[in-house]
This record gives sequence, structure tokens and C-alpha cells, in this order.
Amino acid sequence: MKDVAMQLAREAGELIVAGRKGGVQIADTKSSSVDIVTAVDKASEELLYSRLAELRPGDGFLGEEGRSRESSTGVTWVVDPIDGTVNFYYDIPHYAVSIAAVTGEPVAGSWQVEVGVVYNPVTQEMFSAERGTGAYLGDRKLEITSPPPLELALVGTGFAYSAAMRREQSRLMHEILPQIRDLRRMGTASLDLAAVAAGRLDVYFERTLNAWDHAAGELLVTEAGGVIAGLGQQPPGREGIFAGHPALVSQLQALVSLHNGEVLLRDIPGWGLDS
Ligand code: IPD
Ligand code: CA
Ligand code: CA
Repeated sequence: MKDVAMQLAREAGELIVAGRKGGVQIADTKSSSVDIVTAVDKASEELLYSRLAELRPGDGFLGEEGRSRESSTGVTWVVDPIDGTVNFYYDIPHYAVSIAAVTGEPVAGSWQVEVGVVYNPVTQEMFSAERGTGAYLGDRKLEITSPPPLELALVGTGFAYSAAMRREQSRLMHEILPQIRDLRRMGTASLDLAAVAAGRLDVYFERTLNAWDHAAGELLVTEAGGVIAGLGQQPPGREGIFAGHPALVSQLQALVSLHNGEVLLRDIPGWGLDS
């Protein structure tokens, strides 16, 4: 399954890079006016959907742009055809194809991720993991080693497309930023998780992610020796996800909790009106 995922990530990556030449048009908007989708997002998903039907008949499919198929094998492919679409639109060379194969319900927190591949088609960096066999960047095995203290940690995060959520995120970051080395908002959640696995970020935290944003990346982190954790009592998922060395994840969770960052999404003023 890992070979299939890497092969298809390269095929979709070629399509994406070719589709970028000559500029990109917004085809549609989704949850808000800044949540965009391009024709290339849709074409990439079509390619992944049809190639998986050929190579892995019977497996399920869950893609961001609406393609889905029930699984008859117990395996479901959870796919983000372009993660980092805003970067793609602005020609910032930091976006990815994210492909995971999960067993069990294709729902964050209850699935078991078997394979995860995150591929940046511009740099051609291929991050891959298969459960029990480690995480790799190309041929290099990735390992999360002893972390710095939180005040020296480089923390990755992302902000939601919802204005109400961003108000809450900026409130919390106002408290956290003085207590860490610095913050990175690079615009592609799957590559943020890959960066944690590769030691390019010390720890990562984000709310409102969808299954396809983090399914593949979370296996990269755990196979590199890190942990994935949720916000408060919640399983890792839409309410929140932390990733990194266990000691640093605990410290960041405690800081978020101290600053009342565990409020449920439905209790955030304005949440649901613009998302
Ligand atoms: C987004 C990116 C971004 C994250 C957003 C995601 P998209 O995915 O991963 O980094 O902050 O929450 O929705 O829309 O580019 O596929
Ligand atoms: Ca995404
Ligand atoms: Ca996407």
C-alpha cells in the first residue's frame, strides 16, 4: 500500500505542477470566501480516485473535494488532493498531496492509520510511513529526539478559514507567542506534521483540521517516535491536534489549557455562522 501511495502521489504531483503553469483560477469557494478550490484540486482528486479504483478495487475512498466510496476490504484511502491550496494559488512552493490508508472507521480518533504519504511536488520531497516500519524522508529514517524546553521550541500551527475561529486563535496565540522560541504558519497541515517528524518543527498544534489534512501526517509523527494527542478530553481531530515529542506536547497542552484554549468549537462565539 505504501508503494501505491507513493506512486499515486507522484502522478498527482505531476498533474498539479503542470496545472500550475500559466496561472490558476479559483473554481469555487467552500466554507467561507477565503476557503478556495481550484480546478487542479478537483483534477488531482479525480486522478487519485480513479487510479485507486484500478489498483485497489474494493478499498474505500474519502477525499476532500467530495469523492467517496464505501470500503468492502476494511481499508479506506483518506486523501487531500492538494493540501495548502492557498499556497498553490499564490505560487508559494509549499503544498502537498496527502494520502493515507486507514483501517476501521475512516474517522479521526477511531481509525488505525496503516500507511501515510505526504509529497511536495515542487521540491519532490517524499515523506512516507507504514505502521510498524518507521517514517522516512526519501531514504532517510526520521526520528524525533530529545526536545528543547518549550521556551526554545519552534511551534507550528495553522489558522482556520472561519473568522470567528481566527479571533479565538489569535487570542490564544497572543498568550503563547511570548512563551516559545517562535511560531510558524506555513500553510499546509500535512507538511507541518511531516516537519515535526523531520525535526523542522519541535511541536505542532492546530484546531479545525479535517481527516484528510492529518491522516497521513499523524503516522509520520508516530512512526518517527512522536505522539499525536487531542485537545482536553477530546480525541485528536477537528477539536484540536497536538504533535511532537511527548514531553513537549504535554507542556504545550498545559499552556493551552492555562489560557482557556480548550473551549469546544460549538462554544466559540460566532462559530458555525461562518464555517
Ligand atoms: C488547509 C491547510 C492549512 C490549514 C487549514 C487546512 P487546504 O488545507 O492544511 O495549513 O491551516 O486548516 O484547511 O484547504 O489547503 O486543503
Ligand atoms: Ca487540507
Ligand atoms: Ca485541500
